Amino acid sequence: MASDNTTEFVIEPGPPLSGEITISGAKNSVLKLMAATVLAEGTHTIYNVPDIFDVGIMCQLLESMGAKTNRRPGVVEILIDKIHPVAPFELVEQMRASTAILGPLLARYGRAELGIPGGDDFGSRPIDMHLTGLEALGASFDVQPEGLVGTADHLTGGEVVLGFPSVGATENIMMAAVLADGVTNIENAAREPEIADLASMLTKMGAGITGAGTSRITVTGVDSLEAVTHRVIPDRIQAATFMAALGVTGGQILLREARYDHMDMVCQKVGEMGLRASPDRDGIWALADRRLNAVDLSTLPYPGVATDYKPFLASMLCVADGTSIVTENLFAGRFRYVDELVKLGAEVRTDGNHAVIKGVERLTGAEVVSHDIRAGAALIVAALGADGQTIVTDHGHVRRGYPDLAGDLRTLGANIHERPGT
Ligand code: EPU
Repeated sequence: MASDNTTEFVIEPGPPLSGEITISGAKNSVLKLMAATVLAEGTHTIYNVPDIFDVGIMCQLLESMGAKTNRRPGVVEILIDKIHPVAPFELVEQMRASTAILGPLLARYGRAELGIPGGDDFGSRPIDMHLTGLEALGASFDVQPEGLVGTADHLTGGEVVLGFPSVGATENIMMAAVLADGVTNIENAAREPEIADLASMLTKMGAGITGAGTSRITVTGVDSLEAVTHRVIPDRIQAATFMAALGVTGGQILLREARYDHMDMVCQKVGEMGLRASPDRDGIWALADRRLNAVDLSTLPYPGVATDYKPFLASMLCVADGTSIVTENLFAGRFRYVDELVKLGAEVRTDGNHAVIKGVERLTGAEVVSHDIRAGAALIVAALGADGQTIVTDHGHVRRGYPDLAGDLRTLGANIHERPGT
């Protein structure tokens, strides 16, 4: 992310959190819904769109291919007419979710050029399952050092068994299958709520999809789809971030719009730590009235505890009573933020994909740096439980996934402000 987005979050000790905020639409849903619009000509309108950098990058990506986009608060309109199926390197490089354009482009235009570094491996987050699944429907790929070119004269439904329930692969295959001839079954599909949200929009567009949200999705191809309006589901990762902040400071908050049914497992996990989270008519109500307990946790695909929650759950455990073991099962190396937590006085040791966290009473303010969206949020959460001032330097990561994390925390009473970084 460009250095002109550098921000410093300045956090001082504050009172227990109280009051309410509204959780915005989900980043990991809206980006895929926007990619899906290229499947049908006309004007699509998406509501409950979060005001985050990644939505802006997806708009740029769609515009670079010939779409017109129009944003106003909470809404994005996308006009699809003639599309040039080439996704430029500089945009794909900035945002991994750009790969969601692959399936729709192949389905609708029979060609997709994606500017990502080639070779057999796509860095630490490969897309081999996306490509194998799309090949099973008849696509072929030419992978070059500067990017890949996918072609598909004709897509035909097929059987796809995923070796792992990959969110991105499930979405790409589902979006390609909607315009393929015949029936596609995706076995071991990812079950995240964002997959069901995408299927819900595709179904409104005229697609034949059953089973989204389960591990077997069946797609019956249709000849064409039409533009629709759709409302994005709330962001469960944002909601969990505020629960973690509450766990650290204590207090009582209402997270308007948050969906308990999307967050059962994480609510259960924070419940084991001693925080009460309950479904409310307006969202999720949460109460933290005592010091948290240590618990062990392990990340898993949905409905397990998501890897995206882990950094700020770890921040809670840094000030919990006792020792916890946290295991990461999805992304190797997603413990980079631990060194920064240690600068705040946390007692954490990592070994491979495990972290052992010995809770301390209070952390101590320090200057730390965030390396990704969730790590940035985790450091801010941890700083709320620190004595003295903490400065979290963030190179635009937090705004990729949170519309106004500091403002929302201030609404809840936290002592945090944001200033341009150097
Ligand atoms: N994987 C492969 N090959 C593939 C695809 C995935 O080996 O072809 C591996 C990945 O390397 C990883 C695992 O499978 O070890 C799971 O990856 P998945 O494909 O499920 O993740 P993703 O689609 O790339 C989405 C979210 C992530 C979230 C993961 C897991 C978006 C834009 N991103 O990524 O969210 O961590 O699912 O739930 O939807 C975030 O929001 O901060 C974020 C990183």
